[in-house]
Amino acid sequence: MTKKITVPLNVNGELKEVTIRPADILLDALRGELSLTGAKPGCLNGDCGSCSVLIDGTVYKSCIMLAVEAVDCEIITIEGLAHTPVQQSFIEHFAFQCGYCTPGFIMNIQSLLEKHPNPSYETIKEWLSSNICRCTSYEEIEEAVFAAVEKNKGRST
Ligand code: FES
Ligand code: FES
Repeated sequence: MTKKITVPLNVNGELKEVTIRPADILLDALRGELSLTGAKPGCLNGDCGSCSVLIDGTVYKSCIMLAVEAVDCEIITIEGLAHTPVQQSFIEHFAFQCGYCTPGFIMNIQSLLEKHPNPSYETIKEWLSSNICRCTSYEEIEEAVFAAVEKNKGRST
């Protein structure tokens, strides 16, 4: 049996210790060890984006990243984005049905706005293509994202 190790993870601005096997994925460490259940297991093979988190400001799919790879990185989960403009925009535009995909979309768009404060329509569509909504709420999700982008433009000009 593989021996477990205890490593520190910097999550949402707090340093936490997790006891994991070296092959454990970050998604399992966040949900199982830290009870941060906002990142969701969907496809578990990097296709759907429901497990997305930010690692040093870049969006990553935590189902295809080892937890040990995130040591010494700044991890932000959906729990760390409460009351942000992107989250608010999803609420205002009713951009969810079951909500399972929503944390992943919010993480992705947060990263988009950090990297491209004034993104083009093509860039927005390209970023949105990395997340899947099984309830097909795409129209409302796009409306929420475009509204968040517009608000962000106002702040960054
Ligand atoms: S669960 Fe990670 S990309 Fe689908
Ligand atoms: S709202 Fe249900 S998967 Fe997107």
